[in-house]
Amino acid sequence: MTDVLRAALLTASRNETVRRIVENAPVSRSVVRRFVAGTSVDDAVRATAGLVREGLTVSLDRLGEDTTEVGHADATTKAYVTVLGALAERELSTRAEVSVKLSAVGQALDESMALDNARAICEAAAAAGTTVTLDMEDHTTTDSTLGILRELRTDFPWVGAVLQAYLHRTEADCRDLATAGSRVRLCKGAYKEPPGVAFQSRLDVDKSYVRCLRVLMEGAGYPMVATHDPRLVRIACTLVDRTDRAKGSYEFQMLYGIRPQEQRRLAEDGETVRVYVPYGDEWYGYLMRRLAERPANVVFFLRALATTT
Ligand code: FDA
Repeated sequence: MTDVLRAALLTASRNETVRRIVENAPVSRSVVRRFVAGTSVDDAVRATAGLVREGLTVSLDRLGEDTTEVGHADATTKAYVTVLGALAERELSTRAEVSVKLSAVGQALDESMALDNARAICEAAAAAGTTVTLDMEDHTTTDSTLGILRELRTDFPWVGAVLQAYLHRTEADCRDLATAGSRVRLCKGAYKEPPGVAFQSRLDVDKSYVRCLRVLMEGAGYPMVATHDPRLVRIACTLVDRTDRAKGSYEFQMLYGIRPQEQRRLAEDGETVRVYVPYGDEWYGYLMRRLAERPANVVFFLRALATTT
């Protein structure tokens, strides 16, 4: 049943009609507030400052994806440049970077345009003294995203990659990317993928996560352990001990609003913890993926709906 619900929500995440209904439902905004820091640059900077005060670090994500217009891709690029400037101005850029979805800066329209836009964002990040991580989207974009990553890294070696443990190919990708200076965020993967390319059961995805994490921890790069799964967090700590990694040579990452106490607990233990903070108006796809990850979130959504109607 959970798997059916998950598949339905992930299909809905890319359906225009459902999108319009959910965006206009009175309940949506209150649910969104749990996972999204706000709509404006000021909201993003305020949330960042609060998290930094608590000893956490941040990756800001300006919400938006699957852009089909050049003007929209340009506007997203400018928005990233603006927020990077605001982080520098508030002296937050040593503790906060940005995460970018290439589909939001034109990947589906023209790969070279997406590369140029990503380059402009990297230049702004370099000027602000911080870094950029390229989010990973569905498997049809993986080769293109890793190609753009390679291009960007020739000028900006600190650009981070994301690899998704649910894909069969990821263990091999981890081997390729576990090199000196290479920042790699490992997550389970949030899209609906077919059995030909991705593990389908939770157990198989978790086992793949552990294999991939071992490769990253044993390698020379900088692993970014992106999970809320308590078992995987414990396994990551064991691998850190076994590979003699010093604190600061890897980090934990979690999403804004999910397991906040655990984020603080790890930071108090001296770990680097980065919170992925989404902001902006285009929250629909992001919200649907968060609902799909946990049936209890759907109950929360429906309960809020019942109390407002
Ligand atoms: P899992 O889903 O098994 O959850 C473990 C536990 O964490 C749950 O039992 C629950 O307690 C809590 N939890 C997890 N999700 C929750 C939710 N939505 N609401 C409430 N509680 C929740 N994916 C992708 O495809 N491309 C990407 O670029 C990224 N980027 C990214 C960055 C960061 C920093 C994180 C943490 C995650 C991503 N993801 C991602 C999402 C990732 O692929 C995955 O879908 C989610 O992290 C959920 O998987 P977990 O590893 O947390 O485990």
